[in-house]
Amino acid sequence: MKKKGIKNRVTPWEVKGSVNYDKLVKEFGVERINEDLLNRIKKHTKELHFMLRRNIFFAHRDLHWLLDEYEKGNKFFLYTGCGPSGPIHLGHIGTWMFTKWLQETFDVELWFQFTDDEKFLFKKQSLEEIQQWMHENMLDVIALGFNPKKTHFIINTKHAHLLYPIAIRIAKKITFSMVKASFGLREDSNIGQLFYTSMQAAPAVLPSVLKNKNIPCLIPHAIDQDPHFRLTRDILPKLGYYKPASIQNMFLPPLTGVSGKMSSSENNGIFTTDTKEEVKNKINKYAFSGGQPTLEEHKLKGGDPEIDVSFQYLRMLLEEEDEKLNKIYENYKSGKLSTGELKKYTIEKINVFLEKHQKEREKAKKKIDDFVYKG
Ligand code: TRP
Repeated sequence: MKKKGIKNRVTPWEVKGSVNYDKLVKEFGVERINEDLLNRIKKHTKELHFMLRRNIFFAHRDLHWLLDEYEKGNKFFLYTGCGPSGPIHLGHIGTWMFTKWLQETFDVELWFQFTDDEKFLFKKQSLEEIQQWMHENMLDVIALGFNPKKTHFIINTKHAHLLYPIAIRIAKKITFSMVKASFGLREDSNIGQLFYTSMQAAPAVLPSVLKNKNIPCLIPHAIDQDPHFRLTRDILPKLGYYKPASIQNMFLPPLTGVSGKMSSSENNGIFTTDTKEEVKNKINKYAFSGGQPTLEEHKLKGGDPEIDVSFQYLRMLLEEEDEKLNKIYENYKSGKLSTGELKKYTIEKINVFLEKHQKEREKAKKKIDDFVYKG
């Protein structure tokens, strides 16, 4: 599958080249979210989140089963996570905003894993540095407004006493050849990397273990994490648990163009700690534009919102109102709205979001303890 020389590649640790979502759906074996499923979700949520309406969350595993159980009164819990190795950018935020919406609309618990072990094992940074980032990243998660009574942070190194007994049961069912095939690991990969996926699988059953009863699990995550959960789903039934259901979103593009993904390590995005000036500069200087080279030409021929990064940020994250978004789309396409104007609107939207976020992030410094699971 992952032969040398292939330019497009999506694994949990690397997203290279342009992302072909149809191909990923086939390769990973997830199901597209269709009208039927959307209508079924809508029965429970009344409104559909714009990320569902716009197909940003585009694929799933076993959502119908999850809703069957929910309708029988068997509530699920949510599980998602963060690998802390750098600052949080807008790409992380979308998945978590949607997770918060799920938590609120279904009134369910959320287990949030921080994988300091993972980033230590896969990156060059020291454990101390990773754990500093973890602290920073927690502030961003809290700033989004999760309910501390229903949200539990699990830190892999800190809660090892809870995770490890589960992880070894999972690990015993995973062979070297399975992780080689799923994650592109090799003979010379360090042995922590080979074990790691069992730590990411563990929270999918942790609440079931703690409460000593089987509880359905829903994992919202960006599509690159699917190889972990595909494996998790194969193994958990062998241990007497449900397969976790999951729902996958697309990547928010980097500033440089609509393919690939925003990434802290490649410094190609907008961070939650950026100043207003930095945001303005980044969008104006680097955000790839679907507009024409000159204003005159733009007025004549119009721009292409599909490849315009600013427009995509509005569509995927920042402009919740369909009517406004459609208007921008039409006006940009016809040439009535210039690239400069589109960028100005996008900068404004990002800065309004960040202003609130940064205030909440400050307040979050006192709240970490309310979120870290005591047990
Ligand atoms: N591996 C993920 C990352 O690198 C972090 C993570 C752990 C996660 N558990 C998760 C992401 C569950 C989504 C869902 O960011």
